This record gives sequence, C-alpha cells and structure tokens, in this order.
Amino acid sequence: MASRVGSLTPFLVMELMERALEMESRGQSVVHLEIGEPDQQAPPDVRRVAAQVLENERSRYTDSRGLLALREAIADDCERRSGARPDPANILVTSGTSPAMLLVFSLLLEPGVEVIVPEPFYACYPNFVRYCGGVVVPVVTHASEGFAVDPDEVKARITPRTRAIVLASPANPTGAVQTPEVMNSLAQLGPPLVSDEIYHGLVYDGREATSALSLDSESFVLDGFSKRYAMTGYRLGWLVAPDWAREPLRVMQQNFFISASDVAQRAGMAALQSGAAALEGVRARYESHRDLMVKGLRELGFGIPSQPAGAFYVLAEAGDFGEDSLALAHALLEKAGVAVAPGIDFGSSAEGMLRFSYAVSRSSIEEALARLGPVLPELARKVGSARKGDA
Ligand SMILES: Cc1ncc(COP(=O)(O)O)c(C=O)c1O
Repeated sequence: MASRVGSLTPFLVMELMERALEMESRGQSVVHLEIGEPDQQAPPDVRRVAAQVLENERSRYTDSRGLLALREAIADDCERRSGARPDPANILVTSGTSPAMLLVFSLLLEPGVEVIVPEPFYACYPNFVRYCGGVVVPVVTHASEGFAVDPDEVKARITPRTRAIVLASPANPTGAVQTPEVMNSLAQLGPPLVSDEIYHGLVYDGREATSALSLDSESFVLDGFSKRYAMTGYRLGWLVAPDWAREPLRVMQQNFFISASDVAQRAGMAALQSGAAALEGVRARYESHRDLMVKGLRELGFGIPSQPAGAFYVLAEAGDFGEDSLALAHALLEKAGVAVAPGIDFGSSAEGMLRFSYAVSRSSIEEALARLGPVLPELARKVGSARKGDA
C-alpha cells in the first residue's frame, strides 16, 4: 500500500455512527446529532426531475466540465448570492465538494509545500493536503473569540512554501462566520484562498457570509448542493477556478471522473430553479434550531462562549464532563442514546469539545437534551474527583 494512503487518519465520527447503528439494529433508540447531514428530503422538484430522468431518459456522460445549462445556472446563483458572476467556463461541476477538493489540492500541491488551515477544521482537509504531499500549517482559533480567524496570525505563518490558505465560512465544526474584513485581508495575503462555501446561505442573526468570488479572481471557490438543498446523496458540487487553472482541472476531471452524474446534474438544475425560493424557509428553520440547541446545551453546563452564526453545528466545551472527547462521545451514546461528534476529529485544539448537529427536527433536539440531562451530573462528578486527585 502506498505511504500516502497510510498517512490518512480515520474519521472518528463515522466510528460513532457505526456504533449507533449497531445499537439501533439491536432495538435501542439513538438520537443522531453526529453527522453533518440535513434530515429533510431534497426539494420536491429535485426528486421529481431525478425520477423523471431515470424513468424516461438515457443517462449519459456529460461534458466533463458539467452541463453548460447547469454551469450557467450556477453562475447566476453565485451572482445572486455574492454579487459576482463567474464565467461558466471557469466552473467545473463535480460529484460533490469533496472531489472538487481533491482536484484543487492535486492541482496546487506537491511534496513539501504548505497549506494554512484554521483550526478547528473540517476533518477531511488535513487528509486531502497530506495525500497530495502537502504539510498542514494550523492556525488555532478560539471559542472565546467566536473562532474568528486573525489575518495577522495567518500572515505570520506564510513562507515561500505556502501554496494555499483554506477557509470555510460558515465553518464546520464551529459554525463561525468570518467578517468581510477578515475575508478581504486573507484574500490579500498572497497565497490563493481555497474557500469552501458549502454552508453559504445558512447564516443567522441577519449576517451574511462573504464569498471569495467577490474578493479575488485568483481564489478557488468550492461549493455544492449537499447542505443547502439536502442533497448529500446526489453527490453534486462545483468549483470556480481562476483562468489559468481551468484547463488543467478539466484534464484531471476528464481522466479521473469523466463527468459528474448526469441525473444529479439535471436534479441540481431543478434545485437552483425552484429550490432557491425555499431556502429562506430552510435558513429560518435552522436558525430556530440553533437557538434551541445553544440554550439547551448552556443550561446543561456546556460552554458556548459565543453563539455560532452559521452552518448547522454547535462546537461546545465539554471538558467538565470528560476531557477525552472520543471517550465522552462514546459514554453519551451508551448512557443516553445520543450520538455526537468528538472534538478531537477537528484538530487537537478541539479536544475536550463536542460537536452537536442541529440539522434535525426540533423534537430530536428536545429529546437529545432531555436524555443528556440525567447522565451529565455523574460524568461531571467523575471529572471533578479526578481533578481533585490530580491537585
Ligand atoms: C466544510 C465541508 N466541506 C465539504 C463537505 C463535503 O461536502 P460534499 O457532500 O459536497 O462532498 C462537508 C461535509 O460535511 C463539509 O462540512
């Protein structure tokens, strides 16, 4: 086996989910807050178009860059949301944001180069970087500062080997939304921004996320249908690349993937045509779930110094209930039947934290909070006595 594969680390939250599924198969009930996946159906038109294409049409390979009509619809959608319309020739439609990441990092990285990544980070970023021979240079952000990225700290870590600055705003796992000023400063630092905008549109408190499209034409923007349109299983995303990158990316896509799924692309067009109108309802639903989750977790004693403003996650300080986040997540699953993601998945600075997804129904959130209530005091007592013992 190639050493680049050996360097990949497992996604621990999947381990939790697999254990939860095992418990459910034995008849135990589990509330799933561990996975970053909307619990709702994709919009009706999306499902209708997908069914109609499957039923009546011969599905084919498409242009490797994606159907032109879809790329035009994506360009219009980008313009609606960010004010900047990318040239459809610079858009590449992919089988999700994840393959887009693989293409961009394959394009930019070679052994020994560096990529700056704010931490806590989406667990897969370091693996993509390492797989492509790069070295992750983390910039730790703090719960007490709302996980704001400090452009001066990023600047201090730039070296001649830096090939990219990766940023997600809103972010997984923190839900943090960076200000336009921070985004603008990061775009001015020199290395290209790889801006993961998969949670754009899911922003609360009257705020908006800033798209790198409106900042710098040398940025790479990754986006997709999974989160906004609850289309995780369709596997559809895209990237917007600078002019110089579009041909090499196209060649990689032709060779490695041929094209994204024809069926999914047609369904994606329906999402942009009619699903966009429903987005405000989706956003408002998540905002009210965020409020419920944050309030409930604070009442239970979790530390949430500032309210996350986007995506659908709360990354809460949980050290008073267990300092080892993986062991704590397992304990909550076994004792309370609540599955959550361990902070350690998102970088060592997130150890002692747990990530709760609120892309579930209100009743699931209420049930999870009710189940956690009775088991936390005992866990807190154990941590308290261990700390006294240490002292
Ligand atoms: C920040 C971030 N980027 C990308 C992805 C993957 O998205 P896709 O389903 O489009 O591959 C996720 C999924 O959780 C994510 O949280």
